[in-house]
Amino acid sequence: MQILTALEPLRTALSALKNNSGDARLALVPTMGALHEGHLTLVREAKARAEHVVVSIFVNPRQFGPNEDLATYPRQLEADARLLEAEGVDVLWAPTVEVVYPPAYATSVQVSGLDAVLCGAARPGHFDGVATVVSKLFNQVQPDVALFGEKDWQQLAIIRRMARDLDLTRPRADAILGVPTVREADGLAMSSRNKYLTADERAAAPAMNRAMRVAAERIVAGEPVAQALAVLRAKVLAAGFRSIDYADLRDAATLEDLAAFDGRPARLLVAAHMGKARLIDNVAVG
Ligand code: PAF
Repeated sequence: MQILTALEPLRTALSALKNNSGDARLALVPTMGALHEGHLTLVREAKARAEHVVVSIFVNPRQFGPNEDLATYPRQLEADARLLEAEGVDVLWAPTVEVVYPPAYATSVQVSGLDAVLCGAARPGHFDGVATVVSKLFNQVQPDVALFGEKDWQQLAIIRRMARDLDLTRPRADAILGVPTVREADGLAMSSRNKYLTADERAAAPAMNRAMRVAAERIVAGEPVAQALAVLRAKVLAAGFRSIDYADLRDAATLEDLAAFDGRPARLLVAAHMGKARLIDNVAVG
């Protein structure tokens, strides 16, 4: 595995990969590092879909708000590199902040509307940062397929819309592939931020996903959405979460708020605070 931190060596390595293997497909797995089983599942899925795999690790300052955890976000490049090497990744793309945002950098990508709801409401500017860095990663790596976890459902919806709007990927159905959330045995969605939970908080946290699955079943069974969401909120707070940013039923693609379930693909999404962690999760409805 090559570990590259500058653009020219990346371009040379990618063109060598392409020249050596004709029609071979290239997959990109963008990450911010602190890799866990969820990321490694993306890598394995990438390897199943493409001959060559590039994983990027970049803690993107533009997607952190002023009071967020940029400084303390876990960074463990050497350990991450060992994991990726063992998975047979071809290239680890780990650019510095100066490579991604050179002096006088002035461009931002905004996916209007989709970025204003859910996490976007609580974290203004976050999705501009995500869309900007992901569009740069697509331009740098030019993958045939890019893989993202469904845990960040809003991020996935925004990246799909951006890629379509800006013609960033080839027009294939699976060019932006969402991979189902990987969970701990007790149902907690894997996240680098789970490290912020104390032992007691960690034990309590899976209650959120349990309550979400029950709410999703009740909505499909015909319970009014507002009632199911009220019960869900009460259960999340009773489990020890100190506040809830949102607990919503949304159209899976447009993220339109759904006051009633009408059978279209929908998602139940929750963000809530437990101790120092802000946990997000989502489940399919119907
Ligand atoms: O999901 C993440 O880890 C990040 O938001 C991403 C997509 C790598 C962009 O920085």
